[in-house]
Amino acid sequence: MSSDAKDRAGPPISTLVGPQNTIAIAADHGGYDLKQTLIPEIEAMGLAALDLGCHGPESVDYPDFAREMATVLKDGRARRGVLICGTGIGISMAANRHEHVRAALCWNGTAARLARQHNDANVLVLGGRMVGDELARDCLRIFLSTAFEGGRHLRRVAKFSTNVETEGA
Ligand code: RB5
Repeated sequence: MSSDAKDRAGPPISTLVGPQNTIAIAADHGGYDLKQTLIPEIEAMGLAALDLGCHGPESVDYPDFAREMATVLKDGRARRGVLICGTGIGISMAANRHEHVRAALCWNGTAARLARQHNDANVLVLGGRMVGDELARDCLRIFLSTAFEGGRHLRRVAKFSTNVETEGA
């Protein structure tokens, strides 16, 4: 972890994300560089980063990494996740095919805050070719330190599953 990252991070926020303080992170080749940038940021927040790949710039298929993220979240090996592809679009689509995943493609800190407060997103999605490193760090810190507001938002989020069940009828 760089001393720069430590300075920016401030005090550990692990208590804010609960006892299970592991954040899974995965990317395709379009998000590989940003993934490498964000891992030290996660660690600087006092959290553990579970790196699900990819492990180099070679071309890979983003749905494979979305699926791995869904598995890790389902198994309880991580409480939240970060997914990155070139635009963030494909990996969002793939991740949201899994019913327990609420993946939010974010482009600034406000989107990241509202994704947690209103949507109880459990996966932050970023476009590695769309956002710069500083903006991505902002999104990450805000996403990992913001609580779900519940209330009327809980009712709406609960309807995600209802909609899946009734769509074929
Ligand atoms: C890979 O070239 C690119 O298509 C992928 O990273 C992503 O942007 C897809 O949505």
